[in-house]
Amino acid sequence: MKQYLAIEPWRIVEKKYYPDYNEISESVFSIGNGKMGQRANFEEDFSGNTLQGNYLAGIYYPDKTRVGWWKNGYPDYFAKVLNAVNWIGLNIIVDGQLLDLATVEIQSFERILDMQQGVLKRIFTVLFPKGQIIEVKATRFYSMVYDEIGALSYQVKAVNFSGKVSITSYIDFNVRNEDANYDENFWTPLYQKIDQNIAIVSAKTLKTNFQVACGISNTFFHNNRFISIESPWTEESQKNSLTADFDLKKGDSCTIHKKSCTVSSFYYSPESFNEKIHEGLATAQKLGFEGLLEKQREYWIARWKESDIVIQDDVSAQQALRFNIFQLNQTYTGVDARLNIGPKGFTGEKYGGSTYWDTEAYCIPYYLSTAPQNVSRNLLIYRYNQLDKAIENAVKLGFKRGAALFPMVTMNGEECHNEWEITFEEIHRNGAIAYAIHDYVNYTGDRQYLIDYGLEVLIAISRFWAQRFNFSEEKQQYVMLGVTGPNEYENNVNNNWYTSYIAKWCLEYTEEIISYVQKQDPLKYQEIVNKTGFDPKNELQQWHSITTNIFFPIDDKRGVFLQQENFLDKELKPANQIPLEERPISQNWSWDRILRSCFIKQADVLQGLYMFEDHFDKQTLQRNYDFYEPMTVHESSLSPCIHAILAASIGYQDKAYELFMRTARLDLDDYNNDTNEGCHITSMAGTWMAFVKGFGGIKVTDGQLYVNPFLPKKWKAYSFTIGFRAQQLNVRVTPNEVAIEKGGNDPLTIMFKGQQVTLFEGVNTFHQPITLNQE
Ligand code: BGC
Repeated sequence: MKQYLAIEPWRIVEKKYYPDYNEISESVFSIGNGKMGQRANFEEDFSGNTLQGNYLAGIYYPDKTRVGWWKNGYPDYFAKVLNAVNWIGLNIIVDGQLLDLATVEIQSFERILDMQQGVLKRIFTVLFPKGQIIEVKATRFYSMVYDEIGALSYQVKAVNFSGKVSITSYIDFNVRNEDANYDENFWTPLYQKIDQNIAIVSAKTLKTNFQVACGISNTFFHNNRFISIESPWTEESQKNSLTADFDLKKGDSCTIHKKSCTVSSFYYSPESFNEKIHEGLATAQKLGFEGLLEKQREYWIARWKESDIVIQDDVSAQQALRFNIFQLNQTYTGVDARLNIGPKGFTGEKYGGSTYWDTEAYCIPYYLSTAPQNVSRNLLIYRYNQLDKAIENAVKLGFKRGAALFPMVTMNGEECHNEWEITFEEIHRNGAIAYAIHDYVNYTGDRQYLIDYGLEVLIAISRFWAQRFNFSEEKQQYVMLGVTGPNEYENNVNNNWYTSYIAKWCLEYTEEIISYVQKQDPLKYQEIVNKTGFDPKNELQQWHSITTNIFFPIDDKRGVFLQQENFLDKELKPANQIPLEERPISQNWSWDRILRSCFIKQADVLQGLYMFEDHFDKQTLQRNYDFYEPMTVHESSLSPCIHAILAASIGYQDKAYELFMRTARLDLDDYNNDTNEGCHITSMAGTWMAFVKGFGGIKVTDGQLYVNPFLPKKWKAYSFTIGFRAQQLNVRVTPNEVAIEKGGNDPLTIMFKGQQVTLFEGVNTFHQPITLNQE
């Protein structure tokens, strides 16, 4: 765990340069706008440790799989998000000396992520070997409003000398991914050109044939006065550069404003790239750097209104929450149903920027509450559009009659994960996709979605479950064999309680939705029956015989659901008996030892109890929590948040707080020693859930909003905002009252601490001690 970043409510600040932590900071200070994102790499030359990363959503490369032992059915590639064109590059030369923070003497250094305005800044002074001192001020952002535009302002001031400073601005498509399996270059050059002082380079991805072009324009200033640069552009392979030389007097400054416009064949035909880049840069030029910045500020003010959480007197928690929210807001904006949320977003190469079950199980609740309805709807549509591929995937694994298995990892609907125990067996992801449909409809009330899209997906997933269970003659019950649950520290187990439970729920929910659509829109129902070849009588009957007779492993003595049939054969002991130097066990123990141990990577039975909390009484939650949490090592970033929510629900408030803090500051404090590879974006939605669902006690059951907050002992007050059914609610919790401010004219009836109350426009105050969970 590292605590090198200053604690402030709205900013992340690195107050001095930490060379050993540079790659961590590059991840933490990342910027993005939903369509593009980049690590906080330095603009100027840098010979120290760095992971260069500028990523474009949807643009990927199918990197040929590397596996030790090939299994039939493995996908032959892993989809990787690509490090794309570097448009930020600058060479700064001061009286013949190159600025490189790894070689010059750094006198002061600040790197700032201003989350209120959505910008990355650096301010530093350095001393060159010949005695010159310069001060640099750099500000950079990806525009949220013009989502093809990047903007950079970079100023160099001559602090103690008069002399020559030159700024070379370049655009460079000679970029690679560090995680290439066979050290291949994923890009092949297309063209480069200079057109009306805009430098453009273009390349295309091998195999996937995505074409990308990026153009840059530069504006230079001497002491903030515009100057025109006549020098020509220099062309090298896949790189164009332009140099501006300045004679500075002591105290003078020179500045470059650099703008980029990146376009791709994901959105445009390559013939129109030139025109689109010129249009984009003309808009950027017209507004100027300051104008673009102003638009950026306005955007973020509005976005924070929908999604901010305020904690009184705990700046560390405050900063962490805002950091999580900020990263989520800049990773996914919901403008395009072909895009999704990679576990590392735009902050690193690991996990390939691909889609995991994380989206449905963790991210959708966040966007449901903090963004317009179409944002989470687009995440559902993403899977709907990939249904055919999920059916093909199931066929490859031997399933029939329109059964679908959505991939564990995907970019385009095809499975690209290849560890057999996960690819073939971690099938609970199918359940999360169905659950997300339910979650969305329950939260928004948009039942039309079920008719237009949802039912088809539900039928296909249910067919998969119906074929995946088999009847055990021995048990005279349906069983599900060869499964990996969310706890990846047990593989190939039989009757994983969570997977069987979500499968059962899914079959029953699909049946319910079938009768809803049949009644509501018989024509559309018939259309779906025809399209899917659904045989209502026989299939429903088969589903029914399964759901009424599934084998669930249960320990009657302890009154707990068993993670899998043989769980009790394990040597059961709490995780706090593992010596600290052996943690995390994933990095210190052999794999077989982990598999044989009772230690749990992330919520498994408890994942089910969290998702289906209303199906169980408090004592059941508590017994299972008390049994499993002590054995849980939380070595997935997705783990603490679910436990925090359950702990809050049971009334373990201190534990809820502890787990919340662990999830909230995971990346800022580099808790798992891996932030250098990128931030844990999808678990950030878990942080939000731990707060709003855990502390705020927000849930929606049968379309009704429940608010059941408590105030952790360490806090004096907090408030958060959620949108619910076109209404905006701000919930403020203090020791003796809860005030819910409601926008919009229509009254809203909710369940507040177990009682039905109606909220009216304005502030609705409830006076009562709220330190205890009372429902
Ligand atoms: C977790 C998975 C998760 C993946 C990506 C893994 O470590 O076990 O549940 O989907 O990370 O976040």
